[in-house]
Amino acid sequence: MQQHTLDPENWDALQGLGHRMLDDMFDHLRTVRERPVWQPVPDNVKANFESGPPAKPIPAERAYEEFKQNVLPYTQGSIHPRFWGWVIGSGTPFGMLAELLTAGLNTNSTFGDTAATRLELQVLDWFKELFGFPRDASGLLVSGASEANLVALAVARHAKSPANVKRNGVQGLRHRLRVYGSSETHSSVIKSLELLGLGSRSFVATPTNPDFTVDVETLRRRVIADRVAGECPICVVGNAGTVNTGAMDDLEALADLCGELGLWFHVDGAFGGLAVLAPKLKPLVAGLERSDSVAFDLHKWLHIPYAVGAVLVRDAAQHHATFASSASYLGRLPGGITDGPISFNEYGPELSRGFRGLRAWLTIKEQGFEKLALLIEQNVDQARYLAMLVEQTPELQLLAPVSLNIVCFRFVAPDLDAAELDALNTDILVRLQESGSSVPSHTRIGDRFAIRVCVTNHRSRLEDFDLLAREVTALGRERLAALQSVPAA
Ligand SMILES: Cc1ncc(COP(=O)(O)O)c(C=O)c1O
Repeated sequence: MQQHTLDPENWDALQGLGHRMLDDMFDHLRTVRERPVWQPVPDNVKANFESGPPAKPIPAERAYEEFKQNVLPYTQGSIHPRFWGWVIGSGTPFGMLAELLTAGLNTNSTFGDTAATRLELQVLDWFKELFGFPRDASGLLVSGASEANLVALAVARHAKSPANVKRNGVQGLRHRLRVYGSSETHSSVIKSLELLGLGSRSFVATPTNPDFTVDVETLRRRVIADRVAGECPICVVGNAGTVNTGAMDDLEALADLCGELGLWFHVDGAFGGLAVLAPKLKPLVAGLERSDSVAFDLHKWLHIPYAVGAVLVRDAAQHHATFASSASYLGRLPGGITDGPISFNEYGPELSRGFRGLRAWLTIKEQGFEKLALLIEQNVDQARYLAMLVEQTPELQLLAPVSLNIVCFRFVAPDLDAAELDALNTDILVRLQESGSSVPSHTRIGDRFAIRVCVTNHRSRLEDFDLLAREVTALGRERLAALQSVPAA
């Protein structure tokens, strides 16, 4: 019988290709500043993604050439110094190497007496210490803050429901479960509540103060009123850095409120939670260490390659009880490979799990937390610098206070109405992106379209923000001149 394998026939040839791929990627990273941040995928390249399933092989060399032609030039651009869209980390060259090692090992990091489980526990222990969580808290590395929020809210639901939801579902509940947070809370929290069977209507969006932080007194009154009306409040979500503006809720006040009213206190600290690392910024997240659970990302402000986030849960027993199952084939035996320190699959929805910890462990060791914190502080200073440029330019208007690393602003002209200003700023942003010069993203602040610059980028320099302010002003003037030259109908 002929025996097949997926290993190469010629190991030396593939190894040679591997060296070339690595050299190419190093060059790509080293020269990233010289290229456009982003460019659209041309039609002839799009066509390459429409062919059917390949039944027959092509040489690895050719597959790699296809990657170089069709993929490499048309990615998101998140590694570029002027990428400031959404909340996206830049990765690091050593992180890229860590990915290579991870894929080489192809470990399913779910349980067992392996270095992978111990390494992942160590990474979680580092964060417990840095976040001021007790050593016996539990945690899990996940795909990102969305999954981290889902896991934390599942534990909150399990711990605070008046009946056994894990067994009976939410259908059997007599009272509607309620979760509270500001109207600026991230959509992944609402999505989690939908997935957990609570429905999006279970989220009570509380109004914010003018700085976009939650109005704690209004939230308190709402919880009390809901209780009186027979609803069942279970949890408050505090924001350590809202996605729109980076606003930091008063976590001390929320911790007090949750303690007083017996609610689960979850903090969505996707990026802002990492302020705990930076001595200058740590006071902003005071109270985080009192939360019952916290979600944060490693792929955003720590620049670990995608995708890795984490959740910490103060009460490990509740965390375990939420996700534990009793499948015989997953049980642990005394001795042998299954006899490891933890079964991560009993702390979250995934059974098979990538070895996410390795790229975190290696990158953090290579850089050290002090340097990572320095870069976080540098980004906050850069955001303040951009805000200053905006304020110094009469045609630019800041749309929200800069609490952390996010600047929302727009081009303004006295004769334009609200809709015209929105259209003009949309046009500026699209032209900026299409020129390849920079990639901010957008949002709405109140009823205004905002150009949104989120600085989670260790490659950005001050001159990049000078260029941005100049270009937005120039594009705005150009578009305005074009509008004014059109005769009125
Ligand atoms: C405040 C906040 N929470 C949650 C998330 C979701 O994180 P992820 O995209 O890693 O799932 C984000 C993403 O930007 C965020 O800004």
